[in-house]
Amino acid sequence: MRVVTKLPDALPDISPLAADFPIFSERKEGLVYLDSAATSQKPRQVIDAVCEFERKYNANVHRGIYPLSEDATERYEGARKKVAGFINSESADEIVFLRGTTEALNVLALSLGIWQLKPGDEVLTTVMEHHSNVVPWQMLSWKGVRLKFADIDSEGQIDMDDFATKLTGRTKIVSVAHVSNVLGTINPVREIADMAHDNSSLLIVDGAQSAPHIPVDVRKIGCDFFALSGHKMLAPTGIGALYGRYDLLRKIEPALGGGEMISEVHQNGCTWNVPPYKFEAGTPNIIGAIGLGAAVDYLSAIGMENVERYDRHLISYALSRLGESDDIEIYGPHDIEQRSGVIAFNLKGVHGHDTAEILGRRGVSIRSGHHCAQPLMERLGISSASRASFYLYNGKRDVDALIDALDEVRKVFA
Ligand SMILES: Cc1ncc(COP(=O)(O)O)c(C=O)c1O
Repeated sequence: MRVVTKLPDALPDISPLAADFPIFSERKEGLVYLDSAATSQKPRQVIDAVCEFERKYNANVHRGIYPLSEDATERYEGARKKVAGFINSESADEIVFLRGTTEALNVLALSLGIWQLKPGDEVLTTVMEHHSNVVPWQMLSWKGVRLKFADIDSEGQIDMDDFATKLTGRTKIVSVAHVSNVLGTINPVREIADMAHDNSSLLIVDGAQSAPHIPVDVRKIGCDFFALSGHKMLAPTGIGALYGRYDLLRKIEPALGGGEMISEVHQNGCTWNVPPYKFEAGTPNIIGAIGLGAAVDYLSAIGMENVERYDRHLISYALSRLGESDDIEIYGPHDIEQRSGVIAFNLKGVHGHDTAEILGRRGVSIRSGHHCAQPLMERLGISSASRASFYLYNGKRDVDALIDALDEVRKVFA
């Protein structure tokens, strides 16, 4: 039986889980990694599962009736069940494996946009969205579909009055981030689901930044669709999942055509396979799904409530340390309960890129720029921000290294 390392109740200097992540010991120069919102590091358990599959089980799935292919299929479908359990969907048939959140949102925009939406229909989102929840909807403008943005308040939370005003009889789809990748805001998706459904709109939740950090229960949220990216939650890149309510997955048309997604093909047309296969055209990212299954095992063994609690310790410590200086502007909610994972900030008078570059030279990896959220940058009246993002392998020492390195930036610009 594998011994699971527990996350401690108070923030330690070094996370006990860091030892599971080879990158921290194998890079000679050391690594203070504070860019997990971009992509997370991978634990040995995921790397081993991926290697084991390639060595012992590799074959295409669903196609062969020989034992190796049956083995591969069983493992691939097993990963689907794990993801279904992780977000508490009713069945594994509601989980579509795709490349990630971006692909999931594009598939939805194409499926719903081409087949369902009519000129004059509206999609309602928020001003804090990642571009992947903006551009696919804007691409439907050729069809006369309009994208509207609910505003945020001074705390970086959705202005629910503005949201309610913009939710009209024309709004067919509401698509919002569960957690903002810049502000860290945890959005009230349960309340939004009720408002959307009372208005006969569908609710899509972008879970790219929530699934890695907080417990997700798609049934409790009451959303119609939920998208996540494996690489932000310890799995390899190129794999993600789209949850869709089964009745909706049955009803909507697929966006991508090819092998596997059909039931029959003839010269005069074709019929679709059942969900989720209807949305998985071509050979899927089998190895990615295996990695995602292993990542889900890893996170589930720790417990997402524990991951969330540990995250709060990290954010709380980082906010208090960053708050020691009055030359740092921090974006997002002040209330620690309202935020998760990331802290975006600007050191007054210093461009975010300069901050990130100097920190990088000191071995501290953070991100700077618009974070694929330009409408939000415009709303905040800034062109860029630095962003430190945390995960279960970070500890106090990582936060302290960030604070020390910021002193270095101040010296350069003094
Ligand atoms: C909130 C949010 N949505 C969507 C995405 C896109 O995810 P991916 O690049 O994995 O498709 C990201 C990536 O940073 C994100 O933070």
